[in-house]
Amino acid sequence: MLKAMVHKSFPNNSFFNRFDHIISGVPYDTTEVEKRALRDVLEQFSPQSVHLVYEPLAAAIGMGLDVQEPNGKCIVDMGGGITEIAIVSLSGVVTHESLRVAGDTFTEDIQEYIRRQYNLAIGFHMAESAKINVGSALHELTDVPDDFMVLGKNTITGIPTAKQITYTEIAQVLDRSIIKIEEAITRVLEASPPELASDIYENGIYLTGGGSLLRGMKDRLQRKFDLIIHQDLEPLLSVSKGLGKILGASQKHKALLMV
Ligand SMILES: Nc1ncnc2c1ncn2[C@@H]1O[C@H](COP(=O)(O)OP(=O)(O)OP(=O)(O)O)[C@@H](O)[C@H]1O
Ligand SMILES: [Mg+2]
Repeated sequence: MLKAMVHKSFPNNSFFNRFDHIISGVPYDTTEVEKRALRDVLEQFSPQSVHLVYEPLAAAIGMGLDVQEPNGKCIVDMGGGITEIAIVSLSGVVTHESLRVAGDTFTEDIQEYIRRQYNLAIGFHMAESAKINVGSALHELTDVPDDFMVLGKNTITGIPTAKQITYTEIAQVLDRSIIKIEEAITRVLEASPPELASDIYENGIYLTGGGSLLRGMKDRLQRKFDLIIHQDLEPLLSVSKGLGKILGASQKHKALLMV
């Protein structure tokens, strides 16, 4: 799969034109066995070097933050499969938690709700469209999105059916998963060393990852934690932008590279 994707991105990279250096992000709680397996996969491109970098650090750099300074920063990367919460300082991760609740969980919650509530089976992509169009982390929005028509199949009759859904019902559906994420953020803040607490109070929380694009997420977290929430403008790209910067200045970011 990786080979096919690399070929798509770099169609002109032939056998004679190899990749010199490969850098890849990994979640912070990746095991040694998983790292080894990833390295093995990346070795197929015969690079001179393969380096792995923890994604919360890469995401922070992608957001333009200086992770080398002692000043602690709280990063929340709400991705597709996992949400990673990390406090970073001095090029390292000080406190961390990750949970398997993120953007795709929101999609699955919607899919499950539509099936249960309306006896309507919808595909993952339809549920994702519903999330993007009327998904909300807040029960009351000032900028109200238009209702969204989901198309699927009645689970009893088998007949294709449509149903109009509103953002308020989706907000209720997503509450449980968002609360799990909020609880994890609370635990990380609680576990962070007191000397970094003032940094976090001043810096607030840096929010990234595609899952954070959910309508109202920033405002919800702002209200919940009473901290400034910096929302990344390109949350789908923070890790890859960070990796690009690290690769471009590998000497400067040596401390981040796992060999
Ligand atoms: N406009 C949007 N509104 C809500 N969610 C969105 C939007 N655009 C993308 N997403 C969600 O973002 C998620 C993907 O985010 P991202 O690319 O950061 O994840 P990933 O890095 O691939 O996954 P992980 O970090 O878990 O390994 C998906 O769940 C997708 O549905
Ligand atoms: Mg990610």
